[in-house]
Amino acid sequence: MGARETDVPYEAARRRTFAVISHPDAGKSTLTEAIALHAKAISQAGAVHGKAGRRTVVSDWMRMEQARGISITSAVLRFSHRDTLINLVDTPGHADFSEDTYRVVSAVDSVVMLLDAAKGLEAQTLKLFDVCRSQGVPVITFVNKWDRPGRDALDLCDELATHTGLQPMPLTWPIGPAGEFHGLLDCRDGTMVRYQRTVGGATAAQEERLDPAVAAAQEGPAWSRACEEADLLDASGGGFDHELFLAAEASPVLFGAALLNHGVRHLLDFLVDFAPAPRPRVDVAGRPRRLDAPFSAFVFKVQTGMNPAHRDQIAFARVCSGVFERGMVVTNVATGKPFATKYVQQAFGQQRTTLDVAYPGDVIGLVNAAALRVGDTLFAGVPAVRFPRLPRFAPAHFAVARPTDVGRAKQFHRAIAQLHAEGVVQVMRSQRRGQGSAPVLAAVGPMQFEVVLHRMEWEFAVPVTLEHLPYTVVRRLADPSQRPLVDTGWRSEVLMRDDGTELAVFAGQVELAVLQRLHPHLKLDHLVGGVD
Ligand code: G4P
Repeated sequence: MGARETDVPYEAARRRTFAVISHPDAGKSTLTEAIALHAKAISQAGAVHGKAGRRTVVSDWMRMEQARGISITSAVLRFSHRDTLINLVDTPGHADFSEDTYRVVSAVDSVVMLLDAAKGLEAQTLKLFDVCRSQGVPVITFVNKWDRPGRDALDLCDELATHTGLQPMPLTWPIGPAGEFHGLLDCRDGTMVRYQRTVGGATAAQEERLDPAVAAAQEGPAWSRACEEADLLDASGGGFDHELFLAAEASPVLFGAALLNHGVRHLLDFLVDFAPAPRPRVDVAGRPRRLDAPFSAFVFKVQTGMNPAHRDQIAFARVCSGVFERGMVVTNVATGKPFATKYVQQAFGQQRTTLDVAYPGDVIGLVNAAALRVGDTLFAGVPAVRFPRLPRFAPAHFAVARPTDVGRAKQFHRAIAQLHAEGVVQVMRSQRRGQGSAPVLAAVGPMQFEVVLHRMEWEFAVPVTLEHLPYTVVRRLADPSQRPLVDTGWRSEVLMRDDGTELAVFAGQVELAVLQRLHPHLKLDHLVGGVD
């Protein structure tokens, strides 16, 4: 065992790998910046996500992304805070790209669920929370925008408990109702934290700490109300319980205003003190892979064209065990082929630097990774390992893709395969349409199709047309011999994925009901929570 191998337990224990999930506009980009600002990874807000009126170094690589002002792709922010290395894996803000978020959730050890104080748990947040629950990922709740009028704090906690089943455990509590934010009660030591306003939240906010007696004298009823509310919730839940948090049964709750950098330090400190460090990942056979076993990782994201100067492809892999050293040759389990890791980078917004060594919990960016696909396991040494394939969202939109220039069929198929490998869309085949037929593209959100149209034309120089199919209801065909019952071509069809899964798709509930009445023995499985 080399010197670096013996470091694995120590290095893994000081890593925190997490993601922020939220409904668009809840303040995810703002919080990401505020966190990085506190950890001194950046010196001024706006350095990560370009925002109007602030200094801009955008993390948006695609032109389309910039035009729309949404984040389609994910970047990884890496910085240290109090001797802990933090990997913040960014997630796309738009619901149409939630498949990407799903894969990110598979690659992190905990998640910060960000709520807008005025809106509470929104549809997209709940859907993403379901993903966390299915993966058993511990969730920290951060209620944002407390500087603006919003809902009652107890009400928000009540909603959290009712809709997620997670017991809320307050770590901080706001003094003053939303819109009249005086500071925070630190539930762990009973003191008050008051903030000095910084201009537009451009730098980390200065904190002043007040003893309970001083806070009571200065804040009066607002202070006593905060203490009573926090006590009430604490009494009903039994206080902070670390084990319940790790078991994803309870969620620590913090309040703040990311824009003003209020409450952000508490979140960061909690991540360092209590969020889980990397744990052994379970392989396809159900065996946990020890953290100090030889190097293993899995690809959760493949991205092309991050550098507009020259089109390159980068595969982001989460390290699960062992030490990664740049230059080592690893094996891709899917193909059995070796992969040389000469070029490895860590990405921070648009800046990328070469990464020489990585440990469990780290995210490595493998450059020129044309052979790697989302879900691939990489490993070195013995024994070999294969991690389970990443779960997928059930698609809700379908379209047949055809090149406008039939002479470019070869380039067309290569480009579609590339987009499939990146996870931009799911590519399916229909037996009824015939083997050599145009592929059926399946997406969770329609904007994924726009990305396909854009990239096929501008990146691959193969413009395509999409024939949208009318399907809205999706089930899994349990028995392949029953395919002819569904694959009638009349408002229902069976589509096959590359892993052999057969999806039965229907124009609507009526069509499904009619078929089920005609064939009572037809076996179709529901996809749980939109996830298959
Ligand atoms: P997202 O990534 O989740 O989509 O949200 P983003 O950070 O872009 O924030 C959405 C809007 O909410 C932004 O305003 C942002 O400034 C604002 N915001 C975020 N956190 C807070 C907060 O703690 N308090 C207040 N008052 N506002 C907050 P915008 O007008 O859409 O954009 P911008 O021009 O201000 O950047």
